[in-house]
Amino acid sequence: MCGIVGYIGKKQAAPIILDGLSKLEYRGYDSAGMAIYDGEKINITKSVGRLKVLENLTRGGETMPGFCGIGHTRWATHGVPNDTNAHPHFNADETITVVHNGIIENYLQLRQMLADKGYRFVSDTDTEVLAHLLDYYYKGNPLEAVTKVLHRVEGSYALGILFADCPDQIFATRKDSPLIVGQSDEGCFIASDVPAILKYTRKVYYVDNQEVVRLRADHMHFYTVDEEELRKDPVTIEWDTDAAEKAGYEHFMLKEMYEQPKTVTDTLMPRIKDDDIVIEELHMTDEELAALKKIHIVACGSAYHAGVTGKYVIEGLARIPVEVDLASEFRYRDPILEEGSMVVVISQSGETADTLAALRESKARGFKVLGIVNVVGSSIAREADNVMYTWAGPEIAVATTKAYSAQLIALYLLAMKIGKVRGKIDPEAFSAMLGDLKCLPDQIEMLLNNKLKIQKFANRYVGAKDVFFIGRGIDYAISLEGSLKLKEISYIHSEAYAAGELKHGTISLIEEGTLVAAVSTQPELYAKTISNMVEVKARGAFVLAVTCEENKAIEKAADYVIYIPETNPYFANSLAIIPLQLFGYYVAVGKGCDVDKPRNLAKSVTVE
Ligand code: M6R
Repeated sequence: MCGIVGYIGKKQAAPIILDGLSKLEYRGYDSAGMAIYDGEKINITKSVGRLKVLENLTRGGETMPGFCGIGHTRWATHGVPNDTNAHPHFNADETITVVHNGIIENYLQLRQMLADKGYRFVSDTDTEVLAHLLDYYYKGNPLEAVTKVLHRVEGSYALGILFADCPDQIFATRKDSPLIVGQSDEGCFIASDVPAILKYTRKVYYVDNQEVVRLRADHMHFYTVDEEELRKDPVTIEWDTDAAEKAGYEHFMLKEMYEQPKTVTDTLMPRIKDDDIVIEELHMTDEELAALKKIHIVACGSAYHAGVTGKYVIEGLARIPVEVDLASEFRYRDPILEEGSMVVVISQSGETADTLAALRESKARGFKVLGIVNVVGSSIAREADNVMYTWAGPEIAVATTKAYSAQLIALYLLAMKIGKVRGKIDPEAFSAMLGDLKCLPDQIEMLLNNKLKIQKFANRYVGAKDVFFIGRGIDYAISLEGSLKLKEISYIHSEAYAAGELKHGTISLIEEGTLVAAVSTQPELYAKTISNMVEVKARGAFVLAVTCEENKAIEKAADYVIYIPETNPYFANSLAIIPLQLFGYYVAVGKGCDVDKPRNLAKSVTVE
């Protein structure tokens, strides 16, 4: 979704803003713009297209002098991507300008109210309403104008605001869209995410909902929506800029796939102590864990797919019923949450609007929420009762890989912990499982090193029209993720089907040469999946199988087999997903797609 960067300080603002926006490209966008105060007035340059266009228009920022400015990459919601709808937006006399990430839900009402008072609109955006509303309330006190606007608007927003009357200040505020501010000896910054400003400072403040920040070159002040001053403590960012750079890899996605052994180790090892699993962040005693009656897992996209795996693993190991919901469904379906239930929300970004809303809905009903979150200090991390971090580090590619792998580990740990305290896993089996978990990083590494074989295979499918993924149980969950990886970055239509369900309709889509990827990692289901493979093969499909080394029988039904090393079947997802990620990646590369920034997608979906 949209990215915001702002700077006020000793240096020329435009190059810093352009650099910051380039670090936010992963969020997805279709246009970009900047507003810079040049000592007399505010100038705006904006354009549809990639950031490169804005860089060329401003010669890397050179043509926009000034020490104070705001910039934006837009992911269109209201109004098509074009120059006019790009941010920043001005009021009529070009003295107030705004950049915005989010959606103003009551913008039509506000637009009408302003139009009745003579305001004229030039764009189709909801954001332009904010510029005129600020104008309407501005009577010489910018803080008052900002807070008055906040009292009027409904929806989500992160805002950067400049007033030509107060050129030594930037105003920033947020509600349900991410925003941080940072400070260095060179100036103060606003940004949608840490990588945008990490080159300049490690000292950041997380802005809470409806807080307002007034930034000056050498200090900043925080206020409530009622203009009361607030004290806030900075957070020091520990991770390095390298973590958000490509480090010689062709794409972030490839780099992040290669980081999976480390991600798995970092998420796993701190929680294994003396042959036991210790998850301090749960803040629950063994008795409380044992007393759980039900778990609800809520998430979106790949995080939801991790949750589907979590259902199989938790139900299998801990024998507790688990319901998994898409957050966008959960929040409106009036879910039945019974006494003794725990809600687990999963999110890489910690900012996904629907997941955040599901969390709030659960809390409002009096249920404790555990967040499995990657981004430290994100909204979900701050609002969940307890947070189990996935230590994947910054994930830049829109298509998740390493964060998904880390989510799986968090879920395995949770399942084993609950299974143990409920007496459902005997100590010997528990120890053996810990041993299997510890082997995963090396096994993942081994599978990644097999990339050439998968690349060759993938090259044959760059022209594919449809690809189907099938599997049963956990293999169905793996198929869901394998299919999403392929379609979101290669734009090839793909569906994941529970293998036994295919013949209830979808099998009619199988034609001569259609690729069907069959995932088969669960020994008790090997034979069943082979039957389904035979069914599609008989209708002309080319069958790729991803299975365990012991399952040689599959070669009779498959045209091409990728083997994964031996592990506990509950953990097979962590291995089987690797060749499928590589497959999706290499098909997309072969097609010449923009792998890290697929069309229409945003890294963190902060609107519903
Ligand atoms: O940040 P989150 O984990 O909450 O994001 C959820 C989905 O938007 C995300 O997993 C999405 O499906 C990715 N494009 C998958 O690669």
